[in-house]
Amino acid sequence: MRKTVDLDWANLGFSYIKTDYRYISYWKDGKWDDGALTEDNKVHISEGSTALHYGQTVFEGMKAYRAKDGSINLFRADQNAERMQRSCRRLLMPEIPTDTFIEAVKKVVKANEAYIPPYGTGGSLYLRPFMIGVGDNIGVKPAEEYLFSIFCMPVGAYFKGGLLPTNFMVSGYDRAAGNGTGAAKVGGNYGGSLLPGREAQQKNFSDAIYLDPITHTKIEEVGSANFFGITKDNKFITPVSPSILPSITKYSLLYLAKERLGLEVEEGDVYVDELDRFAEAGACGTAAVISPIGGIQYGEDFHVFYSETEVGPITKKLYEELTGIQYGEVPAPEGWIV
Ligand code: COI
Repeated sequence: MRKTVDLDWANLGFSYIKTDYRYISYWKDGKWDDGALTEDNKVHISEGSTALHYGQTVFEGMKAYRAKDGSINLFRADQNAERMQRSCRRLLMPEIPTDTFIEAVKKVVKANEAYIPPYGTGGSLYLRPFMIGVGDNIGVKPAEEYLFSIFCMPVGAYFKGGLLPTNFMVSGYDRAAGNGTGAAKVGGNYGGSLLPGREAQQKNFSDAIYLDPITHTKIEEVGSANFFGITKDNKFITPVSPSILPSITKYSLLYLAKERLGLEVEEGDVYVDELDRFAEAGACGTAAVISPIGGIQYGEDFHVFYSETEVGPITKKLYEELTGIQYGEVPAPEGWIV
């Protein structure tokens, strides 16, 4: 009989839940082994692992959805594979070929099928592929051995409001250096964001907003999500910069805003002292999906967009289009769903 799991599907939030299987593969002597599923959720690695000391660690975030017709949808998995390859190149780590990556993701999803939130609950199965430098080492140099793994868990909303707006605060900290690792999904970018995030939360904001690290005049990221705004004349704008993590959701929204909503779209500068041009704003990412931004605190000023309590109409349409594709309710652009 097929396994079932009893969880409060509609109220999951975003926290660790141990599922039954994870994929694990090792790289040694210049090649990957065959990889396999395991039930053990602990990794046993050398105390000298470069991941532990020098941050040689990259990861991805992606989701599987129980679709309306009962099938299981993966959203743009090839894009996650390619982004992970770019992150690996930045940290001198071996790449996982796209086909191997997608096959491993499918194995993990199928083995943990009971944990995919049922259609209609708003939840999804979050997948966390990661790679770490392991093996006995002490010098600051790339590891000679690597571990690649994918684990998963059911999740709901990342920011507590879900599709209700929440407020954010412009941080004085930088998330990434101008020519650093901001565009790669590497552990260090996130470690450095913990203190700014905590300080924002202590002031009752959902998270910190980061400005560009060179001029500190332009919005770059919203916590661990990307920023987008809808101008008063209905243009979809999202910042562009070499220190921003290229969100797959963000690029999907750029496409959907143009092709499905007929909006003008632009990747351009979002000056923090020109927020008045926006009628709506939001944070977007795999975990965040689309989280409307109610208001932004910048120094002494608090700027409210559409409303602190209600999602704006265009943000809502974008959310419906994106999640409609993910849950198989509306047709997906070619190649977006496997
Ligand atoms: C994601 O959106 O998947 C992320 O990686 C953000 C965060 C949970 C680290």
